[in-house]
Amino acid sequence: MKAIVVTGFGAEPELADLPIPDPGPGQLLVRLRAAGVNPFDWKVADGALKSAVEHAFPLVMGSDGAGVVERVGPGVTRFRPGDTIYGQFMNLPRGHGSYAEYTLAAEDGKVARIPGSLPFTVAAALPTAGITAYQAIEAARLDAGQVILINGASGGVGQSAVQFAAGKGARVLATATADTADHLRDLGADQIIDFTTAPIAEQVRAIRPEGVDAVLDLVTAPGGDINALAGLLVPGGILINTNYAADIDALAARDIRGINFGNSPTPADLEALATLADAGRLRVTITAEVPLADAPAAVARARSGHARGKTVIVP
Ligand SMILES: NC(=O)c1ccc[n+]([C@@H]2O[C@H](COP(=O)([O-])OP(=O)(O)OC[C@H]3O[C@@H](n4cnc5c(N)ncnc54)[C@H](OP(=O)(O)O)[C@@H]3O)[C@@H](O)[C@H]2O)c1
Repeated sequence: MKAIVVTGFGAEPELADLPIPDPGPGQLLVRLRAAGVNPFDWKVADGALKSAVEHAFPLVMGSDGAGVVERVGPGVTRFRPGDTIYGQFMNLPRGHGSYAEYTLAAEDGKVARIPGSLPFTVAAALPTAGITAYQAIEAARLDAGQVILINGASGGVGQSAVQFAAGKGARVLATATADTADHLRDLGADQIIDFTTAPIAEQVRAIRPEGVDAVLDLVTAPGGDINALAGLLVPGGILINTNYAADIDALAARDIRGINFGNSPTPADLEALATLADAGRLRVTITAEVPLADAPAAVARARSGHARGKTVIVP
């Protein structure tokens, strides 16, 4: 089968020919029809989880995918050949991922059936970004009328987070450039903070001098300065960062609840998310569909940090 692999940490992604994996007990062999690109994919290939887990090389890149169960291993009861499923397929110790024609999944893993007529491309775009947005907004514990600042609102996570926060009746301030403002307003953002024109904190203070109730920060990286965003929160406010850049103790000393958020999809969450997308109640913008051979270029674009919506690889 064709797959996009790295042969070591930090190596350039390349197209390779690998044997189709064999499903063992409790496993499904999935013929992938689409794979979603996330920043996590290149970060892992660069070695982000190097000290936390074994990696087998050549390592097939990618986590998110959608496809058809081709074969099942011994003892599988929940799925059968022909089922359409989606979820997260990254298995670093075995070197398996989603940028490939085939992959394996555990039947009790992070996978769920694709409901109704949801296209494979949309399903593949959902797992990491959609679950992160959903779970992070739940963690923000927003009440109707409260105000949340979403920093990095135009990306894969941000666009879904805007919708989930607006769905809670919250007022959403969204950082983005002017060219995505209309789209974000359409998704439920109340006000756009153009981060290229003036400091974010200055602009938010002008709109909301009394402070915001929550900040979902999708931008600040470890070592980056989160203080300006933290300073916008009301006492007891919540700051959620998705890049493990929050100093929880320092924030607690300022009466801010800091959360270094890591997504953790359950099959039930995945089913709920896909059902929302299928019903048109969660809108996912797919900006590019690329063949497997063009995946290395798509990864390079993802690395730039300026993705708008989701890129999907179609093997
Ligand atoms: N911990 C977890 O479980 C988890 C899960 C998912 C994602 N993440 C992390 O969360 C971050 C966002 O993920 P994503 O999938 O949404 O990324 P993405 O799709 O690549 O989007 C990044 C967005 O950030 C915007 N941006 C870049 N610099 C900005 C700045 N200075 N101020 C405001 N916006 C800025 C970009 O807009 P422009 O094009 O206009 O610059 C782009 O739309 C990534 O670092 C990712 O690794 C973590």
